[in-house]
Amino acid sequence: MDERSRRARTLLGTFFLPAALMLAGGFSPEIRAQSTAEAAKGQKIFFKVCVQCHTLKEKSQASGPGLGGVLNRVPSEEWLLKWLEDPEAMVDSGDAYAQSIADDYPLDMPKLEVMQKESNREAIVTFLKEVPDAPEN
Ligand code: HEC
Repeated sequence: MDERSRRARTLLGTFFLPAALMLAGGFSPEIRAQSTAEAAKGQKIFFKVCVQCHTLKEKSQASGPGLGGVLNRVPSEEWLLKWLEDPEAMVDSGDAYAQSIADDYPLDMPKLEVMQKESNREAIVTFLKEVPDAPEN
């Protein structure tokens, strides 16, 4: 991992995720504890795999769209889980939203080994839900 992403990761772990989790207040303590572990697992996957092409900003210069606030733009959580499992199949199926994002980026998101496991897809979605929309930073 390079120095920049290491720093980003430390920053995120120290400030961002706890703050994001505080925003998730209102859940019962048990649910919150469970979701914290899920989110931490999702965060780990994000910084290991997804960060090659994505940032957590809403707008970014990376190879793929920034994933901050992504749950507000995708058609549904179910759509997101299907996309993560097999993005190419989603584009090929003729799904309108998948085709529109595919048209916006020269690179295509590949079908990823780590996303073939349902528990990993769920962890990523939990993490992405708890990352607030951050258009400016
Ligand atoms: C090799 C580059 C690459 C990797 C690795 C990658 N993606 Fe992507 N992703 C893309 C591209 C490019 C797009 C835009 C759609 C397209 O062209 O396929 C995209 C689109 C998305 C979208 C839809 C975003 C939107 O604006 O609606 C989500 C969500 C997403 N990726 C999540 C992930 C997650 C989570 C991971 C890690 C498990 C990941 N991606 C790994 C390249 C990548």
